[in-house]
Amino acid sequence: APAGAAASAAPAALPDVSDIDLSDDAFWARPLSERHDAFARLRAHPPRFFAEREMGPIPTGPGYHALVTHADVAEASREPRVFASEPSAISIPDLPEGFAEYFGSMINLDDPRHARLRRIVSRGFTPRMLAKLEDDVTRHAARIVDRLLETGPCDFVAEVAARLPLVVICEMMGIPESHHDMVLENSSTVLAGQDPDYLGTDVDTAVTRLLQAGADLSALLADLAAHRREHPTGDLTSALVTANVDGESLSDQELGSFFILLTVAGNETTRNAISHGLHLLTLHPGQRRLWWSDFEEHAGRAVEEIVRYASPVVWMRRTLTRDFVLNGHPLRAGDKAVLYYASANRDAAVFDDPDAFDITRHPNPHLGFGGPGPHFCLGAHLARREITVMFRELRRRVPGIAATAEPQRLASNFVNGIKSLPCAF
Ligand code: HEM
Repeated sequence: APAGAAASAAPAALPDVSDIDLSDDAFWARPLSERHDAFARLRAHPPRFFAEREMGPIPTGPGYHALVTHADVAEASREPRVFASEPSAISIPDLPEGFAEYFGSMINLDDPRHARLRRIVSRGFTPRMLAKLEDDVTRHAARIVDRLLETGPCDFVAEVAARLPLVVICEMMGIPESHHDMVLENSSTVLAGQDPDYLGTDVDTAVTRLLQAGADLSALLADLAAHRREHPTGDLTSALVTANVDGESLSDQELGSFFILLTVAGNETTRNAISHGLHLLTLHPGQRRLWWSDFEEHAGRAVEEIVRYASPVVWMRRTLTRDFVLNGHPLRAGDKAVLYYASANRDAAVFDDPDAFDITRHPNPHLGFGGPGPHFCLGAHLARREITVMFRELRRRVPGIAATAEPQRLASNFVNGIKSLPCAF
């Protein structure tokens, strides 16, 4: 591999990074602009090594290499046999046996097990399935705005941003409306990071709540799956219970954990992208005027820019299966590497003026949906449709909508989350 820019820079020119500790919760509580300033300084260095956070009953491991440049994150994504998702992509400490599979399904697996699962579940995400969904997504967005007009000024997250991904994923699966709020609450708990609003203040409570949330979601799906086996409909659950790819089908356990992955990945990320979208358009009225002046002309690039700029998924972890030299930097078999998408997406080596929010940015090779590899977001097309349709509907019927106060942010190093965002129109 060619030596990276960081490796060839003169050491004397490297910025000071002694104040940056990515494993410290306090780092993630800093304002986003400070976070990005810290990542910019880290990108000038070869990958640095950080300790692991204490996680109660889960033993602390040796630490991890933080990959922060676009080149490093992309390269690691292109080498999935070296940068493995097993034993866990969603947690830096190694989780107890069964935990990673339960909560993360295929996101924590490598081929061939990953490929097998992905082949089966992909049938819910074909262009044909998505085209069929388009009208439903539009109908749901229209209803959400109907309610918004009745409600008046409110919390944008609860009333708008959370509603669309929730109803879309629940309808895809065939979850009755009476259970939608329960799905939202439990998927938020699973991805609550370090936030005491969801997880309480001590580790035992947090672990109990996390396990309960997962158990509630998989019990819901087990009931539904049993019903669909007897009476299949056109929904995704029916497709999954009857799926047969090369003579293989999903076990109940695989079905339950895929459902947890889908509800969590489908809700938490898209909700945050929509919330950040409104916040960014409020902070940048010129960008908003431009988008609103010709919505369809700008929609494609605007949505990519929201995902790049907000980076709702901050990182994913990989574990090295063998020694590897990453853009000039030697890593050893067994090492952990964390791919900071949020940092790669602000890399000035790839993006002009990376801290500018520019809805006309093109090209925009951001890694917000993951890098170029087998785990690239399964729901990326769906997420893009949802974000586009939501803002189309807002622009059409409440074009003056704006955030009226700063967002309340989720305490998490994993999700760039917004808990609430007051809005008016
Ligand atoms: C994977 C981000 C929306 C389902 C991923 C990954 C990222 C990501 C970064 C890569 C994981 C890795 O490399 O290990 C996002 C963002 C979204 C979004 C930013 C919204 C703006 C969705 C939606 C769904 C979804 C709407 C489903 C309805 C998945 C699944 C995977 C995944 C199933 C695992 C794929 C695999 O392991 O093969 N997503 N996602 N995502 N995403 Fe998304």
